[in-house]
Amino acid sequence: MNILVIHGPNLNLLGKREPGIYGPKSLADIDKDILTLASELGIGVRTLQLNGEGEILDAVQKGDYDLLIINAAAYTHTSVAIRDAIAGVDKPAIEVHLSNIHKREDFRKKSFIAEVAVGQISGFGPESYLLALRAAKSILSK
Ligand code: DQA
Repeated sequence: MNILVIHGPNLNLLGKREPGIYGPKSLADIDKDILTLASELGIGVRTLQLNGEGEILDAVQKGDYDLLIINAAAYTHTSVAIRDAIAGVDKPAIEVHLSNIHKREDFRKKSFIAEVAVGQISGFGPESYLLALRAAKSILSK
């Protein structure tokens, strides 16, 4: 099992960025927890943080993974291009958010990614990624 985790724009600032919303953990801490759980579950995971929409498109289109876990961050609410790339590669995708996007500003309630994802995990802080990893294992084991 080969899983790609993409962290979108501004997530490199985690720990310093609006800690009241996103929590105190840095992205490096979160990646460490993802890799620890992946090794416990016996699955291969790579993580990438990309600020540019085009860079995310390139990584998604490459298709060198069995399943994509993606926190597209602000692009979630704007990017038809990322939505179309996920639909175009035809690999299962899980949408992740640290915060509960449905509990925040109205503009965050719309996700272009949700329409092409197996499901969305939103609101559990860094644990959202770990829940996604468990879901990924279960999807790929079927
Ligand atoms: C986010 C939620 C988005 O609305 C926001 O733009 C982000 C982070 C989250 O993980 O909660 O950058 O995707």
